[in-house]
Amino acid sequence: MTPVRALLLENLHPLATTVLNADGVEVVTRSGALDEDELIESLAGVQLLGIRSKTQVTERVLSHAPDLLAVGAFCIGTNQIDLDAAAREGIAVFNAPFSNTRSVVEIAIAEIIALTRRLTERDRALHSGVWDKSAEGSHEVRGRTLGIVGYGNIGTQLSVLAEALGMSVIFYDTAEKLALGNARRAETLDELLETADVVTLHVDGRAGNAGMFGASQLARMRPGSIFLNLSRGFVVDYAALREGILEGRIAGAAVDVFPQEPKRRGDPFESDLRGLPNVILTPHIGGSTEEAQKAIGQFVANKLRDYVRHGSTMLSVNLPNLALDARTGSHRLVHLHRNTPGVLAGINATLAEHGVNVEAQLLATSGDIGYVVTDVGSDLGADVCAELEVMDQTIRLRLLS
Ligand SMILES: NC(=O)c1ccc[n+]([C@@H]2O[C@H](COP(=O)([O-])OP(=O)(O)OC[C@H]3O[C@@H](n4cnc5c(N)ncnc54)[C@H](O)[C@@H]3O)[C@@H](O)[C@H]2O)c1
Repeated sequence: MTPVRALLLENLHPLATTVLNADGVEVVTRSGALDEDELIESLAGVQLLGIRSKTQVTERVLSHAPDLLAVGAFCIGTNQIDLDAAAREGIAVFNAPFSNTRSVVEIAIAEIIALTRRLTERDRALHSGVWDKSAEGSHEVRGRTLGIVGYGNIGTQLSVLAEALGMSVIFYDTAEKLALGNARRAETLDELLETADVVTLHVDGRAGNAGMFGASQLARMRPGSIFLNLSRGFVVDYAALREGILEGRIAGAAVDVFPQEPKRRGDPFESDLRGLPNVILTPHIGGSTEEAQKAIGQFVANKLRDYVRHGSTMLSVNLPNLALDARTGSHRLVHLHRNTPGVLAGINATLAEHGVNVEAQLLATSGDIGYVVTDVGSDLGADVCAELEVMDQTIRLRLLS
C-alpha cells in the first residue's frame, strides 16, 4: 500500500505529527500559510492537509487536489475552507469544536474573581505608586449568583466550577438543557438578569444573536453587577455597555471578543471600552493556551487518522457523520456519493452479483451527500471496485483493508 502523506501548515502543535506518524503517515510540516498556487503545487501526492485560520482552502485548491482525502482545521472556525466544494470533491473537513473550552472557562473564573474583588483598580493604583488599601466595593464570589447565558460546552463547565467556588448558578438557554449540579434554569433572559450578580455570555455565533445584548438587557441587570463577554463580539452593544459602566450601574466588565478585531499581532486597537474603570480587555485569547493548542493538535490529528484508516466521519463538518465499529478479518469499502434514491441498493446489487457477502453496513446522508461504509468478508476484486467507481452517483470510493 502506498503510504499516506500529510502536509501540516501554520506551526501546528507537534503532537499532531506524533499522532499521524504513529499510524505510519508521512508528515511534512511548514511554519507559515501558503497562497493558492503554492498550496495547489504542494498538495500533489498529499492525502491529508492540516491548517489553522490563515490558509484559504478555496474551491480552486480543492478541485486541483485529486489526492486529497481530508482537511483538518486545527482551530474552531472553518470559514477559511469552502466546505460545500470540499464535500462535492469527496474531501472530509474536521475541526476542533471544544478542545479549548476549558481555557475559556478558566479565564472567565479568573475574571469573575478579579472584577468582584476590584483587583484591576488596586493593581493600577499600586503600579502608579498609590497604596490604596481598602475593602470598599470588594467582595467574595462565594454566595453570589452567576448568570450564564448559553449553557453549551463552555457554559456547562463554567457552571460546575463556579458552584465549586460556592457560587449559585442560574442559566438561560434557548435550547432544552440538563441543569448540572444545583444550577437552576431561568425561564427567560430577564429572569436571569434580575437575579444574577455576574452575567456571562457563552452563546454561539448564529446570525440571530447579533446585538442580542444591548441597552435594555444591561438596564435589567442588578445595580452593581458584573458583565462578561467571551463569546462573539457582534452579540453585544458595547456603546451601551460603556454607558452602563460610566453611570456606575455595571460595576465591572471583562471583554475578550469585539465586532471588528485587528488581523495581526501588534496592530492598533480601538474600542468604546478602552480606558474604563474595572474593565478587563483581552485580545480574543479566551481559548488561547498551550494546553488548548496541544488538545487541538491531538483531537484533529485523531480525526484525520480515523477517517483515513477506518472511514469514520464523526464530527466532520461537511460530510454525513458515521462510524462503523472496526472488525477483524473484514475488508472495508467506503463510498461517498450524491444523495439520490437507490444508491445503497445499487452498491449491494453489485456486491451480490460478484458473490460478496455484506457483514456490516452503515449509511448516512446529509443534504446532497451520502456516505456508506460496508464491511465484507471476502477480498474485493478490481472488477467490483471498478463497477462501483463508475456508478453515476459515485464521488469517491476507497478500499481501506
Ligand atoms: N473567546 C474565545 O477565545 C473563545 C473560544 C472558544 C469559543 N468561544 C465562543 O464561545 C461561545 C460558546 O462556545 P461553546 O463551545 O460553549 O458553544 P456551544 O454551541 O456548545 O453552546 C452555545 C449555547 O448557546 C445557546 N444559545 C444560542 N443562542 C442563544 C441565545 N440567544 N440565548 C440563550 N442561549 C443561546 C445554544 O443553545 C447553546 O447551548 C461561542 O460563541 C464560541 O465562538 C470563544
